[in-house]
Amino acid sequence: GGVELRALEIVRSLKDLEGPLLPILHALQEEFGHIPKSVLPLIAKELNLSRAEVHGVVSFYHDFRAEPAGRHVLKLCRAEACQSIGGEAFCNSVRSALGIDWHETTPDGRVTLEPVYCLGLCSCAPAAMLDGELIGRADLAAVKAALAEASQ
Ligand code: FES
Repeated sequence: GGVELRALEIVRSLKDLEGPLLPILHALQEEFGHIPKSVLPLIAKELNLSRAEVHGVVSFYHDFRAEPAGRHVLKLCRAEACQSIGGEAFCNSVRSALGIDWHETTPDGRVTLEPVYCLGLCSCAPAAMLDGELIGRADLAAVKAALAEASQ
């Protein structure tokens, strides 16, 4: 289909790079918002890799999504400064409120949850980011409020 044809164009335009796999995956994700499963075989074929090798790289780097993201992407900081100020409890409260774990999307497609390692907001820990907007001294109430606002 169209996705595979477009993906093939992208793969062919980058395959002569040295170490082409990561640039190709980044370009595909840029194009489609995730790496569709249906394109893994054609990447493997073009680069002379096994499908398992391609799949391994996609799942090793958490930057790559195997599924489309939700309408909102919520990132919670799990690095040290945030962890030392209640970050773990904060992360757990958000995970249980949303009913999803890291890298998952709520069943209604509303929000995808991702860990991040320092948002540069250590002095206002714990830190979170919703659709690129920083939230300092974050707690569950602040995250819920930001989500409610973003969903309007
Ligand atoms: Fe969380 Fe820096 S450690 S923002």
